[in-house]
Amino acid sequence: MSIVNLKDIVKTYPNVTALDHVSMKIEKGEIHALLGENGAGKSTLMKVLYGMTRPDSGEIEINGTLVEIQNPMQAINIGIGMVHQHFMLAEAMNVVENIIVGSEPKKNGRVDYYQAKQEIEKMIQKFGFSVSPDALVEDLTVGEKQQVEILKTLYRSAEILILDEPTAVLSPQEVERFFEVLKRMKSDGKSCIIITHKLYEVFQIADRITVMRDGVVTGQVEPENMIKTSVNQLANYMVGKTTAITNHAQERKVYGDICFEVEELSCKNENKVILDDISLCIRKGEILGIAGVEGNGQSELVKALTGLLKPNSMILKLDGKTVKGTTKDFIKQGIGHIPEDRLKYAVAENMSIAENLVLGYQDSEEYCKKGIMKLKKIKSMSAGRIEKYRIKAPDFKTLINQLSGGNQQKVVVARVFEETSKVLICSQLTRGVDISTSEFFYSLLRAFGESGGATLLVSSDLEEIFTLSDTIAVMYKGKIAGLRKKEDFTREEVGILMTGGRLDTGKEDHCG
Ligand SMILES: Nc1ncnc2c1ncn2[C@@H]1O[C@H](COP(=O)(O)OP(=O)(O)O)[C@@H](O)[C@H]1O
Ligand SMILES: [Mg+2]
Repeated sequence: MSIVNLKDIVKTYPNVTALDHVSMKIEKGEIHALLGENGAGKSTLMKVLYGMTRPDSGEIEINGTLVEIQNPMQAINIGIGMVHQHFMLAEAMNVVENIIVGSEPKKNGRVDYYQAKQEIEKMIQKFGFSVSPDALVEDLTVGEKQQVEILKTLYRSAEILILDEPTAVLSPQEVERFFEVLKRMKSDGKSCIIITHKLYEVFQIADRITVMRDGVVTGQVEPENMIKTSVNQLANYMVGKTTAITNHAQERKVYGDICFEVEELSCKNENKVILDDISLCIRKGEILGIAGVEGNGQSELVKALTGLLKPNSMILKLDGKTVKGTTKDFIKQGIGHIPEDRLKYAVAENMSIAENLVLGYQDSEEYCKKGIMKLKKIKSMSAGRIEKYRIKAPDFKTLINQLSGGNQQKVVVARVFEETSKVLICSQLTRGVDISTSEFFYSLLRAFGESGGATLLVSSDLEEIFTLSDTIAVMYKGKIAGLRKKEDFTREEVGILMTGGRLDTGKEDHCG
């Protein structure tokens, strides 16, 4: 008997059938991946199970018993917990307070905080979390906030855990830790459903897979078929076989002149070839996405293009003119950089937000006159940007290391977007930031393109690459394994190139 049996669920919204007779079974003690592209209906289905959305028709059985789940309170009472994409924590409260709120243990009519804390410490130990019970939530990383959300469901004795796109906000290292936690929950007998659109990670963690597209279940992979199933097959379930054809019909965007060009970029490290004769170019208004599994030369490419690394050979041109020198010279010529490692390269930890907002530009005429900083100007600029970029901080004098990771990234993004005129090079832009901030960054990036800027976007998140890029290049072992307009690539094809495979058709689209 399945622990959850969703039968024939239908849910329509005014303009769309979000769920069209969907059935899905979850077995006790398994990790079940619910896979699908954006808009497939994954969140809606899980909200039905969690009582947040009432279906038009269909039935839910829990342990073989028909149940009506009308609201999340009822769901929690029958042992279902859900962690949403947008976290719902009180920033000013600590971890324990956030976990127990609404379910406080009482002793003589008072909240028994000590007992709650002990219980939570035990759970942290048992499942391998790393968050500290006394920390303020506003000081936590996105990954730690997620741990608090999971702990909250465990504290309420959840036996069935639903996690909506849990890895979207995590760095690869955090994903590893999260998977460890998942495995421990599983060996504790809990049933976990993880929603994801990341094809590759499902093989790493899932016992069973359900794939959805456009409100229907398009594929299911049983445990015994896991090994036989390929990434290609899953991609087909996700996007459908017709996608490649319909995509070609899409209108092509018209770009401006070539803006940024690199040729003959090669780089060796102790005789190991890191970058092997790379040539790329970006037109004005174009977003060139670099897809690839991390560690295939992307970091070095970015460093070479921003003056942080001196390659063995490289011809670099901006608007037809050669670019040379140090990072400072690159910045002066209009090349902005949002690095993957912001603490190392993009923020000065012991300085204020205001100082960080002019970092690298402090000698410019805008902020400095005859060696004296224009403080008034910097102050008003900072106040304006804190507002515009939704930086959560008391004021511009706040030290940058007092901000959360997401807010530090907003400071970097604010500086680079405001000061960069021509070329933007960004790497893992949304790593460690929450979903709504990611959406905000995406809109900034698109606006930069619309104003004629050229963007190089490096990301290990294939979804991000497909969402934003006009053109996609895939890096594998220091080489460009393939480059096409986005509409000429399917996710499946990019996936093949990312893992060292080859494509038969030669649609390679070189710049020129
Ligand atoms: N509250 C809502 N009102 C109207 N349409 C909605 C609502 N929630 C979801 N939808 C629509 O239902 C479809 C499925 O959405 P969703 O379940 O969020 O997909 P997924 O989680 O797979 O990305 C989408 O077309 C979405 O626009
Ligand atoms: Mg969703």
